[in-house]
Amino acid sequence: MIEKNRERDLAFADRHFDARIVENVEDYVADGIVVNLSAEPVLIGKQVPTALHPWRSTMLVNELIGSAERIAVLKISELENFGGVMLRGWQWFGDVFDGFPRQTPLYLSPSDSVGQVKVDPRQFTRETCGGGREQLFEIKLKCWWSPNETDCFIHNEHPFLEVHTQIMGQGRMQKFRDRKASTIYEDVIMTPGFTHEAFCTVGGPNQWVYPWHRYYTDTESVWLAVELHPQ
Ligand SMILES: [Fe+2]
Repeated sequence: MIEKNRERDLAFADRHFDARIVENVEDYVADGIVVNLSAEPVLIGKQVPTALHPWRSTMLVNELIGSAERIAVLKISELENFGGVMLRGWQWFGDVFDGFPRQTPLYLSPSDSVGQVKVDPRQFTRETCGGGREQLFEIKLKCWWSPNETDCFIHNEHPFLEVHTQIMGQGRMQKFRDRKASTIYEDVIMTPGFTHEAFCTVGGPNQWVYPWHRYYTDTESVWLAVELHPQ
């Protein structure tokens, strides 16, 4: 029998940041931002259970989740000195990505592999409502931190599918016609508890086509990256 409500801290949990993964969820009370990390809807709420769709998120206050395959639950537990992430094991992005602008204060947490999932990638990208071929992916979670008004770099390549959930602060996910901030054509406002829809389409087997895009902070922000890596 599989243990119910099996939970553990995520790799980036610390005394400022309550971050956990819960699997085989059954009648679990969650307090914080809940992300559905499964291909099935999750029913949330005791009195009138309502659906949280795959790869979407919401903010719960001590509320019941009836059942779910896998969720993340995240809450900032200590704001004082939260911005010292670089002194608690988070890395400056330029140390892992060559050519990143030397003066951009973008930091990333350790990454955590939380399991595998079978997904129709075109359903993940919302190009279809499902019915396509499912594919096996490894789910990896990590977090990003930047202070206010940070340009977190315009890019258009990823070997994985990704979405982001805002955990703290206000920011934006933006799309561009070209690799230049002035060519912006879409601005998706990110606020705590919100996950944007996938920015990419499926170009072919394991080919994910992204427009030029970036994350931009309005205020000091923490945002979660949910990555689906093809297996
Ligand atoms: Fe990206």
